[in-house]
Amino acid sequence: MKKQPTNLDVKDRVERKYEKLFTRVYENAAIASKKIAAEIAYLIREKNGKGEKCVLGLATGSSPIGVYRELVRLHKEEGLSFNNVITFNLDEYYPMHKDNVQSYWYFMHEHLFNQIDIPKENIHILDGTISENKVYDFCQDFEITIGKAGGIDLQILGIGRTGHIGFNEPGSGPNSPTRMVILDSLTITDAAGDFHSEENVPRKAITMGVGTIMPSRKIILMAWGEKKASIIQKAVEGPMIDLVPATYLQAHPNAEIVLDKEAASELVRFKTPWLVREIQWNDKLIRKATLWLCEKLNKSILKLTYRDYNDNSLGDLVVSHGPAYDINLKVFNMLQKSITGWPGGKPNADDSQRPERAKPYPKRVLIFSPHPDDDILAMGGTINRLVEQGHEVYVAYQTSGNIAVADSIVNRFLYFSKNIAENLNIDTELIQQSLANKQPGDIDIPEVRYLKTLIRKAEARSACRFLNISEDHILFLKMPFYETGTIKKASLMRQDIQLLVDAMRRVQPHQIYAAGDLIDPHGTHRKCFDGIVKSLEIVNNDNWLKKCRIWMYHGIWKEWNIADVDMAVPVSPEELKKKRAAIFRHSSQKEIIYPGSENVEIWRYAIERNRETARKYDKLGMAEYEAIELFVEYESQ
Ligand code: F6R
Repeated sequence: MKKQPTNLDVKDRVERKYEKLFTRVYENAAIASKKIAAEIAYLIREKNGKGEKCVLGLATGSSPIGVYRELVRLHKEEGLSFNNVITFNLDEYYPMHKDNVQSYWYFMHEHLFNQIDIPKENIHILDGTISENKVYDFCQDFEITIGKAGGIDLQILGIGRTGHIGFNEPGSGPNSPTRMVILDSLTITDAAGDFHSEENVPRKAITMGVGTIMPSRKIILMAWGEKKASIIQKAVEGPMIDLVPATYLQAHPNAEIVLDKEAASELVRFKTPWLVREIQWNDKLIRKATLWLCEKLNKSILKLTYRDYNDNSLGDLVVSHGPAYDINLKVFNMLQKSITGWPGGKPNADDSQRPERAKPYPKRVLIFSPHPDDDILAMGGTINRLVEQGHEVYVAYQTSGNIAVADSIVNRFLYFSKNIAENLNIDTELIQQSLANKQPGDIDIPEVRYLKTLIRKAEARSACRFLNISEDHILFLKMPFYETGTIKKASLMRQDIQLLVDAMRRVQPHQIYAAGDLIDPHGTHRKCFDGIVKSLEIVNNDNWLKKCRIWMYHGIWKEWNIADVDMAVPVSPEELKKKRAAIFRHSSQKEIIYPGSENVEIWRYAIERNRETARKYDKLGMAEYEAIELFVEYESQ
């Protein structure tokens, strides 16, 4: 393993005692990507100064995009030349033509090679078009070429949720060579977005082997977003095993892991800091530690004993804040106070112990939903309560969500509209033809996208009306960053932010609800949330904001940890039925399967997630509800 840098003090080294790989953690992916690019640029210039070639091993996927963007900037604005650079790419799908937009050849040229001065003959990318019986020789030649170039100076890597590096899936051996491999099902699921559906993802790939990667003189593996947190924990702190190929890096003398805060969040020093350092205890940390102990010992809060705390690295807490029962009671009460059936505050009641203020009543509530169904999936029960309790509820759908509408559904609606609306000025023949000729990965023509948007609008409107949200309180923002027609979205633009600002200023809400997930820095939810954060900066001096609270719900991919929750809203059996009926209004989404599962539909997962949360509260010794929806207050983050 890479030696800990000498400038780390003892405290820092103790904190990292579970880490078998050296990790650098940055505030966000953008800052981290710039650091990596700066390191690459330094190496290129250093080698150039010595009249040497710089041999880089490169990766594709969403993780290195920011690094390449910064390298291009360094080239264009700061004169960084790639004239002395030789590159070897990790992998390519098989079969795959290089002109295909999903090919790694295309990716590399689009994000980097076409924008820098690297000589074309210095670029080496595995070929997805060669016939199967030539793959073996081709792979051997690739390795010989790496050897002739003098070996790789710096290899950059992403990590798959299976723990793969390159496409070395679980089971790959430490000496595996460059070869043809079969992709893991989870990798196929994760790639489905780029290929529009799982069926279109190639089942095979050609990849540099673990044994090809390991001789690199330096390796940097990067990972962003909470989606990667669990596999990063295994790679950095777990035993070296072939089930998680990234753990082989633990044996490398000069490998580093670069992370943003979210990807690092499952590492011991962030998740359970009391195991590696002395803690200045505050209420939040006490709650976190106590709930961790409950889970570890499978006990409810009020049953934890002095011994439980003391024998599980929390002796310091029980000595300074004990006895155990006092801590238990404190945490029990904290949780109890966060549970409320009055998400908009209870009018005419003492609100000193409640998550929301009683006044003003009624409140204006603005719910932002990244796609047209995230609101209902995550907080349908809460929306129902807010409306029934007399609040003025607005919903703003941030994007059109049209990517997620299957062609067959357009056809169904087309048939319908063709027969009733001759005057709709839509060329139904054109649309029908375009759908019939569509190849996987093709971008829909504007007319089809228009219909798909309309379908989602009609569904969202119907769900809102079902929950008694009035027509003029439903806002469709259609943020432009989403409208690329492909899974890959554009960057947030000024118009995106302006739309959010306008919605906020129009409603002047007392409560904002937003999807606060940090799962994927390049994903739609994250961009929608980043947009809200930027808009809040703009409205910072508006009067209404001083009286506004911002609540975050979590997208369907995960749920908040109870230890972080500020408001838990129970959902009764009847309310849960109503929530399900509201979800069903989104009929174009009804068959969409929860990613990674074989046959659990997302709607089923959403309902089950709320039930599971209720079971967790029950196990902690709180009241037993049918289902619960969770929220974290934004400022308290
Ligand atoms: C890409 C590659 C893969 C990716 C990994 C993570 O060349 O070899 O190992 O690095 O699948 O992909 P993203 O970055 O898209 O999450």
